[in-house]
Amino acid sequence: MLIPVLVGCYNRFVTKPCELRGFLHGSEIFPFTLEVNPASFAAAIRQQPMSKSIESHLTEDREFLPAKEFSSKARISSLAQYKKLYKESIDKPDVFWAREAKELQWDKPWNKVLEWKAPFAKWFVDGKLNVATNCVDRHAEGPRKNKAAIIFEGEPGDKRVITYGQLQREVCQFANVLEKNGVKAKDRVLIYMPMIPEAAVAMLACARIGAVHSVVFGGFSADSIVDRLEDSGATTIITADGGWRRGKVVPLKENVDAALEKYTAVRKCIVFKRCGNDVNMAASRDTWWHDEVAAVSHRHKAKSFDAEHPLFILYTSGSTGKPKGILHTSGGYLTGTYSTFKYIFDIREEDIYWCTADVGWITGHSYIVYGPLANGATQMMYEGAPNQPDFGRFWKIIEENAVSIFYTAPTAIRAFIKAGDHFPANHDLSSLRLLGSVGEPINPEAWMWYHNKIGGKRCPIVDTWWQTETGSIMISPLPGCTPTKPGTATLPFFGVDAAILDEAGNECKANEGGKLVIRKPWPAMTRSIYGDKARYSKTYWSDYKGIYTAGDGARRDKQGNFWIVGRIDDVLNVSGHRLGTAEVESSLVSHPAVAESAVVGRPDELKGQGVVCFVTLKETHQPSEALRKELREHVGKSIGAIAKPDDIYFAPALPKTRSGKIMRRLLKELVTTGDISGNVTTLDDVNVISNLKASMNS
Ligand code: PRX
Repeated sequence: MLIPVLVGCYNRFVTKPCELRGFLHGSEIFPFTLEVNPASFAAAIRQQPMSKSIESHLTEDREFLPAKEFSSKARISSLAQYKKLYKESIDKPDVFWAREAKELQWDKPWNKVLEWKAPFAKWFVDGKLNVATNCVDRHAEGPRKNKAAIIFEGEPGDKRVITYGQLQREVCQFANVLEKNGVKAKDRVLIYMPMIPEAAVAMLACARIGAVHSVVFGGFSADSIVDRLEDSGATTIITADGGWRRGKVVPLKENVDAALEKYTAVRKCIVFKRCGNDVNMAASRDTWWHDEVAAVSHRHKAKSFDAEHPLFILYTSGSTGKPKGILHTSGGYLTGTYSTFKYIFDIREEDIYWCTADVGWITGHSYIVYGPLANGATQMMYEGAPNQPDFGRFWKIIEENAVSIFYTAPTAIRAFIKAGDHFPANHDLSSLRLLGSVGEPINPEAWMWYHNKIGGKRCPIVDTWWQTETGSIMISPLPGCTPTKPGTATLPFFGVDAAILDEAGNECKANEGGKLVIRKPWPAMTRSIYGDKARYSKTYWSDYKGIYTAGDGARRDKQGNFWIVGRIDDVLNVSGHRLGTAEVESSLVSHPAVAESAVVGRPDELKGQGVVCFVTLKETHQPSEALRKELREHVGKSIGAIAKPDDIYFAPALPKTRSGKIMRRLLKELVTTGDISGNVTTLDDVNVISNLKASMNS
């Protein structure tokens, strides 16, 4: 009798399933000990209503303001200025976005900024432009002609500098090659290349002639290529003999050959010679890049395309089912990436910007190719692995090339923390003025390390939240004005009407967790899933009418900062409390022994779910029973008893996607069934699984 009444009215304070120690009411604990029959207790727990919102227990008080020196030169230098422009961008999006778009080169002006028939948007209706000439020709034909567009370093150490003038010639040449081979506007072209400037040249050449590129990350297998060819219906492939990764050649052409045994509709395959490894060249279908470009002019007259002309398809793996071909179009996407890059990286003519992503991901599309080039920026491009020959490689590149803006992912930052501080300490990183993070929630301690060891305590950090689907950054500090706190992406970018909603569609109160949504369309938003409008509507627009659901859980603090707590699918449900994975993981990472962690729920008779943690230690620490106990107490102290791990496993490495995201889905399966039978095609290193199993048995 007692339990249901108390469960309904009070928060539980349960340390062991069959022993009730007391009840928490407000801040007071009413202590007593009650013997509970485990079976009836379990039944009562199962019956109780699940907390509707995602709870948040970690607090972060450290706040960092941009230095005056930085603010005084920044485009947006005060919060008041941000707020004023933000208000305009929300109240009068047409005015704000038209002003931004006008900074690009339009061959025909638009008649209407936005046509919105939810969930389908058209931006800059009837406007015409060429995305590639905006990124290349308008700089090459002006004072930036001899400015470096790309400073390239291959993994073996080879270097090249490509100016905007040279880039124009190369893009024009390759556009001629594509046309000569019969590629027409709207044809799909699959690009499977290493991280070399020719990958960008191939993308821009497609854009120049209105062909739709579909870049497949060079780490993906032949089967992934087949899936993407089948879905996009591409008939042309651009690849390379190989690419360098950790001192070895990735056999790109060999993978393409294997794919083309299964998918036979490809008419043309153009191969760039990068590594000089032996490859098979099928007569009539396969030709060398260098032979092709030698036979054509480096002049090419670009046509104008409609603002809604498709620019690219980029496949993103859903947690289940086949990959989704995220479709982006021209005018809105370019405006979004141009504008966000300008304000968020506060780009200056003299900056050397470096984004360490691969062109095979959206970050590579938006913030290596389109955003930076549309702004006429100089950027560093590096082909290989961060630890080749050792974990000092990135810092050496920054020192040698005087990189001033550095944009990377939390997964890389945690790998650097694990490797040790001496790697960055051996290099002069004083050229850096701004740091960025993307791809996952950055754990506060990883943020602090980035701030102290890489940014020398002087560089603002822009923690940028966005998605393949959003096309451009949606939530991020503006480096000259936004106070930052470790772990929050802070405030929405101009025109982004972000909010946190509960299940009923009401806006959550401060610090109450719910679903992250965007309530208004924005220029770089995906237009659909390629060939599947129904899946697009269902996946992103069916939770709340006319509102985009991102699939992330989040909360907003009292200052309005957004804290991403993890993917909604990963949320833990412990005794009716819904906890985001990010908080428990961040708590573990805040312990000095821990480099990285992944937390998942395991079905539990009594609590609904038990908290299971996988922990990777820093090189300086060893697993032990004492450490396991210490970590359990540490989480209990920083978050609360409900989040205390039931099990902690020490793992040498965590399962990650090729883009570095932790695959909690696999861990969940492993702790639930003891094995992994689900799809592992996006897994970066399959050996991780056997090591994980071994760690669970040790
Ligand atoms: O869960 C969020 C996480 O990455 C997801 C988007 O993944 P993808 O489409 O691969 O694009 C990654 C590069 C933009 C989001 O739904 N995510 C991305 N950036 C952040 C983040 N989570 C927290 N903080 C971020 N800054």
